[in-house]
Amino acid sequence: MARINEHFLKLQAGYLFPEIARRVSAFCEANPEADVIRLGIGDVTEPLPPAIVKAMHDAVDEMANRESFHGYGPEQGYAFLRDAIVENDYQSRGVEVSADEIFVSDGSKCDTGNILDIFGQDNRVAITDPVYPVYVDTNVMAGRTGNADDNGRYEGLAYIPVTAENDFVPAIPDEKVDLIYLCYPNNPTGTVASKETLQQWVDYAKQNDAIIFYDAAYVAFITEENVPHSIYEIDGAKSVAIEFRSFSKNAGFTGTRCAFTVVPKDLKGKTVNGEEKFIHALWNRRHSTKFNGASYVVQKGAAAAYSEDGKKQIGDLVSFYLENARLLREGLEEAGITVFGGVNAPYVWLKTPDESTSWEFFDQLLKKAHLVGTPGSGFGASGEGYFRLSAFNSREKIEAAVERFVKSLG
Ligand code: MLT
Repeated sequence: MARINEHFLKLQAGYLFPEIARRVSAFCEANPEADVIRLGIGDVTEPLPPAIVKAMHDAVDEMANRESFHGYGPEQGYAFLRDAIVENDYQSRGVEVSADEIFVSDGSKCDTGNILDIFGQDNRVAITDPVYPVYVDTNVMAGRTGNADDNGRYEGLAYIPVTAENDFVPAIPDEKVDLIYLCYPNNPTGTVASKETLQQWVDYAKQNDAIIFYDAAYVAFITEENVPHSIYEIDGAKSVAIEFRSFSKNAGFTGTRCAFTVVPKDLKGKTVNGEEKFIHALWNRRHSTKFNGASYVVQKGAAAAYSEDGKKQIGDLVSFYLENARLLREGLEEAGITVFGGVNAPYVWLKTPDESTSWEFFDQLLKKAHLVGTPGSGFGASGEGYFRLSAFNSREKIEAAVERFVKSLG
């Protein structure tokens, strides 16, 4: 019989979001009349912006003709999209990134997991806690951890708590780590990192020959001044950081799938013998071996996100979700709940009332308000006692959610 990868057996229960979906569907089966509002997974609800839809329709028409048909495209992405990314996401902010440092893909979730292929087993990995569970689970699958303890923390990972007690600022480790995951604006807490904080991390990475995986999937939601949009706005970051970006949350591509990863050409890692190697070459090799490129139609749609109409429509979409976040935040605050995030991110992170645990509060909210959120402890031990609400929904549902939430407290 074939041997399995036993590291998978170390994984805790199900992946967080399928586990929530399982509990919700059990509830719905038992209560078929319940009109459940889902603010759990951060999945967009509004349709694709018209400029993107048009570009995708046109691309489908191209595919329908021999003369304009496209087969395999460049694995790294079409030049029209990589150039638009450079110009709009980087050059416009004074950041130097070249088109060949960009690798277009079908999602940041996949990229943040896949990147581990090119790193050795014995790297010590640091993650903030709470954290997007993919970072942890993919390291467990890759065999870079031991078993989980009673709090769900895996042996071998360096956990860095980010809670209200430290103002959600991750402390620089007092040990040597090799790979560091940072996500800003942060999922799940909705908080942001200042330039000074990121500079400390970049300096730490330089001093310790570490690499930062910087997940910037929610960058479009930054509203406040002086919040860095890219890790490359920080001095020295190009020699220590890989950045992940996505079209999911800004342009509504959660179902359409398109993202990109920036791997600077300066970035190096080393072999067991201490020989330096370029990460870019390794990732290019991995990407072009295991991936055949995002589809032409989807990349055409993504490129339209940078057209004048596309930018305006995406701006409206992001503002719409941010207004939802404001309604959630203010509605809950008025009811006496302690709330974080929701200003530069589509997530509101709250302290559970009456010291209930995150899962207790999940069950209570589902039962009393028919409202689904995400238990903070599902994102890590330091998320215990917190709860996340996503602002991705219709205005009507967000307003109803606030009303039901507040009523359920009484
Ligand atoms: C979330 O809810 O945390 C996100 O939707 C997950 C994801 O982007 O994969």
